[in-house]
Amino acid sequence: MDPAAILLLLPGLALVAGQALVTEPAQDRPPSLVIAIIARNAAYSLPYMLGALERFKYPKDRVSVWSATDHNEDQTSKVLQDWLEGVRPLYHTVEWIAQETPSWYPEETGPKQWPKERYEHVMRLRQEALDYARRNNADYILYTDADNVLSNENTLELLMAENKTLIAPMLDSQTGYSNFWCGITPQGFYRRTPDYYPTVNRQRTGCFPVPMVHSTFLVDLRREESHCLAFYPPHVNYTWTFDDIIVFAYSCLAAGVQGYVCNNHHYGYINVPAQPHQEMEDDHLNFVHLMLEAMAVEGVTFLPSEFVPAPQRNPDKMGFDEVFLINLLRRPEKRERMLHSLHLQEISCRVLDAVDGSALNSSAIKRMGINLLPGYYDPFSGRTLTKGEVGCFLSHFQIWKEIAENQLDATLVFEDDVRFGSFFKRKMMRLMNDVRKAQLDWDLIYIGRKQVTTDPEEAVDNVPYLVVADYSYWTLCYIISLQGALKLLNAEPLSKMLPVDEFLPIMSDTHPNEEYKKHFVNRNLQMYSVNPLLVYPTHYTGEPNWLSDTETSTLWDDDNVRTDWSGSQKTLKGSRGEIQHGLHSSSHDEL
Ligand SMILES: *[C@@H]1O[C@H](CO)[C@@H](O)[C@H](O)[C@H]1NC(C)=O
Ligand SMILES: *[C@@H]1O[C@H](CO)[C@@H](O)[C@H](O)[C@H]1NC(C)=O
Ligand SMILES: *[C@@H]1O[C@H](CO)[C@@H](O)[C@H](O)[C@H]1NC(C)=O
Repeated sequence: MDPAAILLLLPGLALVAGQALVTEPAQDRPPSLVIAIIARNAAYSLPYMLGALERFKYPKDRVSVWSATDHNEDQTSKVLQDWLEGVRPLYHTVEWIAQETPSWYPEETGPKQWPKERYEHVMRLRQEALDYARRNNADYILYTDADNVLSNENTLELLMAENKTLIAPMLDSQTGYSNFWCGITPQGFYRRTPDYYPTVNRQRTGCFPVPMVHSTFLVDLRREESHCLAFYPPHVNYTWTFDDIIVFAYSCLAAGVQGYVCNNHHYGYINVPAQPHQEMEDDHLNFVHLMLEAMAVEGVTFLPSEFVPAPQRNPDKMGFDEVFLINLLRRPEKRERMLHSLHLQEISCRVLDAVDGSALNSSAIKRMGINLLPGYYDPFSGRTLTKGEVGCFLSHFQIWKEIAENQLDATLVFEDDVRFGSFFKRKMMRLMNDVRKAQLDWDLIYIGRKQVTTDPEEAVDNVPYLVVADYSYWTLCYIISLQGALKLLNAEPLSKMLPVDEFLPIMSDTHPNEEYKKHFVNRNLQMYSVNPLLVYPTHYTGEPNWLSDTETSTLWDDDNVRTDWSGSQKTLKGSRGEIQHGLHSSSHDEL
């Protein structure tokens, strides 16, 4: 197929063939650059990807945008077109190649499947962008994919300063996946090397020679050795698999161009592509998870473009009667992150202003009828209840009372330091569906917790991924039934208080302390847990940014004694290894 045959120029976006980007002596002005964007079925990520490009500090009048899109089933074409119209006055030139129909390749059996003609088409487009940049004497070309978000505004300057012919900014993902390979087999396939994880996890930092970079990379076109680089057609001696990135890696090898990957800065993010058996929708869900992880782990929020809005989201309660988010008014940053995280997942919630333990003095606590469970002390620090723990208990207690008053059959409760696993909403809806179908009699289901014992737990018949919960800590996220809330209220826990995450195991009779249990007669709470967990804490004790409002506060009955969490082991022993996904996880394969 002749690429020119699919060239479709929009009115007002004239192709200015041959117009040189270099109009003034190079030494006076920053190098000229072409940014090449090839997008397909990426309406979910494009607004964020383009927004990041827009925020680059690099002078836009030195940049031309070359973009192509085709075979779309979604709004990609429109999103890209709206953006190009918006930014056209800002950049030196914008180019646009679009093919509106068909929306599938004839040989494609699904949107995540790559027949040969699709590979070939992408190679041709990459080559076309390269030809365009060369024709216009651009100094550099930056390739970037529609689901790569270059959140570092100085990415271009930083990469150019490394003075390499081919260089990629290392991109973080929600797993160990990134945009480079450290090794390649003699047949041109990915090869695992010992360098990969130390690089991805930034245990070694710098710019490293690698045999393969893909997705986002910068080529210095002024270098003579770059002149032989090509994406299409494959090198005459090419015998490896017909794959665009491997063809390019071979071209680099044949041209003697060494590629580099740099992880000396945080440059941005790359989405883990869905597997061939998965749906197009899964790319979007993976991307949402990437956004959640960037926020939870690094405090980075992806902002959409000024010219194209973020995708429309329609939150609901997932079939629950209520979804609560417990948050202290004086922690707005946690509230904002949680509200944004839930909105991205299309989950609506009601914020419950948490009882601020530190604002309670000991006489007020006593006037509320609160008393400590006789003999209670923290098993790890040996100290007694803190005001933060009293506030936390009262906040959960408030929710249980509302459940009883409003007869809510099923309620989901979040604290505000939740880190979401992937596909959270889909898994929650499946779980509740399975629970209903199995007609399980349940009071409380942990969605996130710390399992105290390592013993295997009893599976639940006909409900996959559910176990009978043994002794567990934390109240990060759980589902509670009306019957469960009534059991907890009837136990009258305020007059014999202990931390809420010790109270729940007592009520399900899984707590090992017989003395504590004697104070509660009906310990028949039917408590389950999802397995594997669907959420985790955002931070673990002792990590940077760790901030707990329950455990770092004053003692419940003494306004003078300040207690903090140092010395306690309860969350310090947090099961870091339980995290299935993570921006710096080492538990994942590269591909
Ligand atoms: C950039 O690299 C080239 C060749 O590797 C070298 O000749 C040149 O001096 C370098 N420039 C700077 C500014 O370091
Ligand atoms: C292709 O391989 C042959 C045999 O090894 C070699 O002689 C030839 O130079 C190669 N062609 C190119 C363009 O590298
Ligand atoms: C304790 O708090 C109550 C209510 O907030 C307040 O009326 C009282 O003066 C406080 N007592 C002390 C000793 O600060």
